[in-house]
Amino acid sequence: MSDLLPTDSIVPEHVAVIMDGNGRWARERGKARHSGHRAGVKSVRATVEHAALRGIQHLTLFAFSSENWSRPAAEVGALMALFVEALRREVAELHRNNVRLEFVGNRASLGAALIRKIEASEARTADNDGLHLIIAIAYGGRWDIAGAARKLAKRAVDGDIHVDDIDEQMLGKDMQFAGVPDPDLLIRTGGEQRISNFLLWNLAYAELWFCDTLWPDFDETEFDRALDFFARRQRRFGQTGDQQEVAEC
Ligand code: IPE
Ligand code: IPE
Ligand code: MG
Repeated sequence: MSDLLPTDSIVPEHVAVIMDGNGRWARERGKARHSGHRAGVKSVRATVEHAALRGIQHLTLFAFSSENWSRPAAEVGALMALFVEALRREVAELHRNNVRLEFVGNRASLGAALIRKIEASEARTADNDGLHLIIAIAYGGRWDIAGAARKLAKRAVDGDIHVDDIDEQMLGKDMQFAGVPDPDLLIRTGGEQRISNFLLWNLAYAELWFCDTLWPDFDETEFDRALDFFARRQRRFGQTGDQQEVAEC
């Protein structure tokens, strides 16, 4: 285990991760892309365990985006089968470790077997009060915002709310992450420095940390580097640095 972090370090409450680079990891080894996705499961396990160890309360992992549906059918099929298999293998251990598992994304677009696994794993771990692990599958930030707008429009048409009362809080309550604090830290592996339609609404004030490490090579040491970067940031939320220093005293 890495000793990079002092134990009294400032730990983010919510960490979100764009797990990128599986395909390139496989290509570097002359293997098919799906073997990179399979290798990525090990990094998921290590990341979940390390998040719990470090006292992070919410961990969101981006596993499949709305746009990933446009990949070749064979890769999409392999990913969906891998999600089912990973849930079959991992949920008992997650449950033993007191992890509460939840899924966000367009669930209706998924296959019946995966939906069954998702619902069963959510129900089984619902009363756990350890790490809150959120997996985003078939998720897109724009899809999430549009869905909330649709719900508010319907309530306005039905006369339940007045259009002039719509504000940020109201919209946020109709989004997938309602009740979950915004991510404090976003980690993206794989070298790209973009959001790729992940949490467009919720990342408003997240600290962004990008690394070249491909997802199957991501481990505790790399995670601690991101946490160390986070601990050194002064978050100002639009205020001045001086105001923050007064607030910290
Ligand atoms: C991330 O790895 C996993 C998914 C998007 C499902 P990629 O498959 O995007 O890997 P690269 O970016 O092609 O290396
Ligand atoms: C983002 O990675 C989605 C996930 C990690 C699930 P992509 O590989 O799909 O992102 P782009 O296409 O490079 O922006
Ligand atoms: Mg990618």
